[in-house]
Amino acid sequence: MHRLLERQIKRFFGDKSALPPDWEPFLAAVGDAYVSADTDRIMIERSLDLMSRELTDRNAELREELTERQRAETRLEYLLSLLGATLESTADGILALDTNSRIMRFNQRFTDMWCVPDAIIAFWTHDALIEHMLGQICEPAAFMEKLDYLCHHPEAECYDTFECTDGRVIERYSLPHPLGAGSVGRVLSFRDITARRLADEALQREKEEQKALIKKLEQAHNQLLQSEKMASIGQLAAGVAHEINNPIGYVYSNIGSLEQYIQQLFQVTNAYERAESALTDPQLLKSIRAAKQSSDWEYLKKDVFDLLHESSEGIVRVKRIVQDLKDFSHVDGVEWQWVDLHKGINSTLNVVNNEIKYNAVVVKEYGEIPEVECLASQLNQVFMNMLVNASHAIGENGNGRITIRTGIKDEMVQIEFSDTGKGISPENLTRIFDPFFTTKPVGKGTGLGLSLSYGIIEKHHGRIEVESEVGKGTTFRILIPVRQEPA
Ligand SMILES: Nc1ncnc2c1ncn2[C@@H]1O[C@H](COP(=O)(O)OP(=O)(O)O)[C@@H](O)[C@H]1O
Ligand SMILES: [Mg+2]
Repeated sequence: MHRLLERQIKRFFGDKSALPPDWEPFLAAVGDAYVSADTDRIMIERSLDLMSRELTDRNAELREELTERQRAETRLEYLLSLLGATLESTADGILALDTNSRIMRFNQRFTDMWCVPDAIIAFWTHDALIEHMLGQICEPAAFMEKLDYLCHHPEAECYDTFECTDGRVIERYSLPHPLGAGSVGRVLSFRDITARRLADEALQREKEEQKALIKKLEQAHNQLLQSEKMASIGQLAAGVAHEINNPIGYVYSNIGSLEQYIQQLFQVTNAYERAESALTDPQLLKSIRAAKQSSDWEYLKKDVFDLLHESSEGIVRVKRIVQDLKDFSHVDGVEWQWVDLHKGINSTLNVVNNEIKYNAVVVKEYGEIPEVECLASQLNQVFMNMLVNASHAIGENGNGRITIRTGIKDEMVQIEFSDTGKGISPENLTRIFDPFFTTKPVGKGTGLGLSLSYGIIEKHHGRIEVESEVGKGTTFRILIPVRQEPA
């Protein structure tokens, strides 16, 4: 019997034996009911225990989740504030757009940079903002085109610069704004690089100026070297010319006297010849005839004058060469003088004739030109260089032609040297005036002639022009003012 039932019977009936015997089955049923109630209670207790344990576990989990979330929120808050601070403390204007190019965010620097009015800032109206920016950009169409491109190419990166109507130069840099595997927009940064650009330009200008200065120095140095050389050659030529001048002078005048004397001698011999017929001594006559015959008297009488003429012609030529040398060197002429350029060209031609004559014929097409105020010996150097270059371009036995044309153009004196030489290729045409630029083998060219000529013509406030066709020939045109303006 169940303990609880026993206790109740004891309490109400005293002893179990006091109970009527026919209660026995009833008591047994009640006892069973107690046992079954016990089993149920135990079951319920167990499941209650289980449930309470589960609840405790869940509670702990929830608490953990809560702290995790709190931590994440704090971190997010920190990151957002860091982002905000970063956005505001950068030197660039920042604009964040979504994939539809709608404004998501911008910083103070951006609004300052573009002078964005408060009304636009307050409402973040995309079109108004873009419109406002476009109004300040020199090429708004190009700017928009790039923006559209970026909008349609979410992965594209961009780096470029554009100019504003107020003269500012802005650098634009844009990267996609990735999220997960895709992109949710892009960030554009704008930086004002006007100062940098100006500094760069100033630096570049300074560099160019320095380059020009170095080139000028180089030219001056080369010119100095060359004119030093020319001066010493000129001095030498002038010295030699002076030394030759004297003996040539007396040889020339002696030849004149000699001709006179010979004429007088012949007058005497003619008188003797006329007296021959009066001679009666056959021995004497015979010896006279033999002497005449052995000296080829008739031929001698004629040839002696030919020889004298040839000699005096030779002497005249030597005199001319000496004069040309003097004219060419102009050692005394380092000052500005009024000079007939045709004379200068002619004497230069005589000096370089030997260099040219096997390669080309020289055709002179001289026009009417006035005397020119110039540094004669330096201009002669230019002419010499033009002529020698032309002759080199034609080459040995080239059967070429060098035409020298003079005239007036734009109130300046123009001297042209045209040759039928090999011409200058377009890529060389820009370099021929550079010092040391030469296409000639070592020993034949120094590459200084044209740079020097350029410097000399510049000094005369003139200019040199060149036209050339490969295989046809080249024309150098020199233009110099008639008179030099006082400095
Ligand atoms: N008349 C010309 N025809 C063709 N090329 C020329 C002529 N004049 C000059 N040049 C070219 O220009 C170069 C530079 O000339 P220049 O300064 O006088 O130096 P160089 O005669 O010592 O080479 C020459 O080497 C040659 O290539
Ligand atoms: Mg030359």
